[in-house]
Formats: sequence, C-alpha cells, structure tokens
Amino acid sequence: MTSATTTVRKRYDAFAPEYDRWDAEHRSVADHRRTLLRHLRGKILEVGIGTGLDLPRYGKNADVVACDISGRMLGKSAMRLSKMGEHQVKLVKMDAQKLMFLDGTFDVVVGMFLFCSVDDPGKVAREIKRVLKPGGQLVTLGYHSERVVPVLRRAGLKIISTKEWPSGDRPIGQIIAERAPIANLPTARRPGRVEASPVVSDRKQMKTRRNKSATGAAPVMVPHPDR
Ligand SMILES: C[S@@+](CC[C@H](N)C(=O)[O-])C[C@H]1O[C@@H](n2cnc3c(N)ncnc32)[C@H](O)[C@@H]1O
Repeated sequence: MTSATTTVRKRYDAFAPEYDRWDAEHRSVADHRRTLLRHLRGKILEVGIGTGLDLPRYGKNADVVACDISGRMLGKSAMRLSKMGEHQVKLVKMDAQKLMFLDGTFDVVVGMFLFCSVDDPGKVAREIKRVLKPGGQLVTLGYHSERVVPVLRRAGLKIISTKEWPSGDRPIGQIIAERAPIANLPTARRPGRVEASPVVSDRKQMKTRRNKSATGAAPVMVPHPDR
C-alpha cells in the first residue's frame, strides 16, 4: 500500500464515527441511491462501502460483496448488516486499487462517492473494468463527475449515461458505464434485468491474471457480530 493510500485509510478510520451524521447533513442522495440500487441483479460488488448506507437499499436476495480499505468504516457496515436480518452481503477489507477477484467476476460494480475519495482513480477504474463481466456495468454517484468521465473512458469503459443535480455547495453526478460485451455474443443483460450470468466463451477474458493479487483465494472476511 502506498503512503498516500495509507493516508486515505487513516482519514476514513478517523472519520468513521461521524460519517453518517456528516452525510445526512451534507447530501440529499437517499432517493438517488435507492433508485439506482433496488433493481440490480446478478453478482454485485460495491467498492468503498463505507458505513454501509447502501446496504438496506439492495433487494433482499441481491448477491453483494462489499469492500473498503478502512477497517473502522467496515466495522460500521458490519453493525448495520447485523440489524438487517436475512441478507446475502459479504464484507471484505480490500484496496480498490488491487481487487482480489478474478477477471470478469461481477455483473455490476457500484461505487458511491468513491472516485472523489481514492488515491488513484485511474487504477480503481482499471480494476473495476477488469472484474466486470463483458457487458457488465459500473454505477456511480459522486462529486466532480466531469473529472471521473475521462478517467473511466481511459480505463476502457463506455459511458452509457450521466446526470448531475445541485446539492449543497457542489453538484452531485451519476454515471453509468459499461465494459464492452464480447463481439458476436448476445449483449449481456443490463442491471435491473440480469437474472443469470451471461455466457462468456472467450477464454482469454476469463484467464486468471498472472498477478499475485488475483489469486482467486477467498477474500479476508471482516469479523461480523452475527457470526
Ligand atoms: C466518501 S466515502 C463513501 C462511502 C460510501 N460509499 C457512501 O456513499 O457513503 C469513501 C469510501 O471509500 C473508501 N476508500 C478510499 N480509498 C479506498 C481504496 N483504495 N480502496 C477501498 N476503499 C477505499 C473509504 O474508506 C470510504 O469508506
């Protein structure tokens, strides 16, 4: 982990106890979160889950893995999860710049206020593209979307839609981007319509990265009060 990333982690460790109050005071995005998340289907990765504000907004049967680099933010997520009853969410401590998942694992990646928080947005965008299935989508909310759009494009993601609205002292933007489907195969289903994993026959796409970080080993689970 670089020292800049350690600084980000420490900042959010320190911020964790106050984060929810701050968020409620400074952002009015609850409805946008709900609208974006409730119909997502398939295998979902939320990157930078923070205190877990999104967790109750996924459908009950949504298959979600959520990661964050800050142990204290994840601890808040674990507490929230323990009050939710039945759920399919796994929490993992992980750096978004080096995701420990195989190529083409997820139908949808969610990143709320992520790109304005990480040390290296370009690395995060490339990692997200790598772990998305062909035809899979990235769903984001956050500040400075005019800066995030070119970062996503450079990573090889196609911008599907952008939207921005005023909020407090700076606008908040929503971006939906896509990893290109493999040519000559039926287009992978979109979030909201994904019932099953799309067929992927390109072996090269699915080949395990020759990189120690992508071992496919089970990620380290955050201690959960329920277990
Ligand atoms: C502004 S908060 C957003 C939290 C949550 N998504 C929300 O909308 O409330 C940014 C989150 O990204 C996490 N984060 C920052 N850098 C990260 C990285 N390299 N890998 C994983 N998470 C990271 C922080 O710890 C923090 O929880």
